[in-house]
Amino acid sequence: MEFDAAVAQLATLVETLEREGDDRALLLLGLMDDIHRPALELIVEGQPDHPVALALLSMYGLAPIDERIEAEEALDEIRPYIEGHGGELELVDVQDGVISVRMSGACNGCAASAMTLRRGIEGKLRERLDWFKEVVALEPEGGAAEPHEAPASLPLLHIEPLSQQGATNGATTTELLQIEKLRRPVFVEVGTFDDLAEGTLKAVDVDGRSVLIHKLDGEPYAFVNVCPNAGARLPLDGAKLSGSVIVCPWHNCAYDARSGKRVDDEPGPALAVLPIAVIDGTLQVAANVA
Ligand code: FES
Repeated sequence: MEFDAAVAQLATLVETLEREGDDRALLLLGLMDDIHRPALELIVEGQPDHPVALALLSMYGLAPIDERIEAEEALDEIRPYIEGHGGELELVDVQDGVISVRMSGACNGCAASAMTLRRGIEGKLRERLDWFKEVVALEPEGGAAEPHEAPASLPLLHIEPLSQQGATNGATTTELLQIEKLRRPVFVEVGTFDDLAEGTLKAVDVDGRSVLIHKLDGEPYAFVNVCPNAGARLPLDGAKLSGSVIVCPWHNCAYDARSGKRVDDEPGPALAVLPIAVIDGTLQVAANVA
């Protein structure tokens, strides 16, 4: 009878609200109807797996557990850290508690990525997912990189258009497509982890490039020491680290101190994030990838 009583009470309440012309309450009722009706119609039509129906069911904790979505949500919590270090993390597969991931970007061939995987990803998955058994790191597409290896100069891969390869369309263009190969990070020591003070910005030289490093909540971060605002490309020396925000001294643009993304109200390019690793207590930065 609880259900019938609630329905009767709701009907009385709606009647009162309509009589009194309470716009905000009526808007609320309208929105509830907009959310529930299409989802309920799909369920009645036998489509409970439709994303709209699942969204409603999950609001009430009634959706069947989608292990892939749960794994993605858990990985989302650690992605800012990995992206903040120039890497990328892709969920490839979930099966019987085994989660397969692929790390790429600066993580490919990075000595620190194996440690990151075990300590960070596995720990987060174990904490969040009671069905989790183990994580498997798949090789990046195209194979694993040699650790910390970089070509002296960047070779170019020349691809001839079809017309140059004997195609019979009669085209005479001589244009060549040039695709730049990705650089592999070359890590250079910039000091020790312990000597880098928490919460302060420090400019260091990495093979002739100025790099800004700092430590936040025990994790090191590195950026190219240039503010990209409006193409000004002024150095960030003298910037302020306020909590987890870097504020440029020139025009006060604010950047997330982990991801480098703009966090003030103006749109704009992000700081160029550089891979940084702690290896045997030393801080190592790869400035050649940005
Ligand atoms: S140069 Fe950084 S805010 Fe203008």
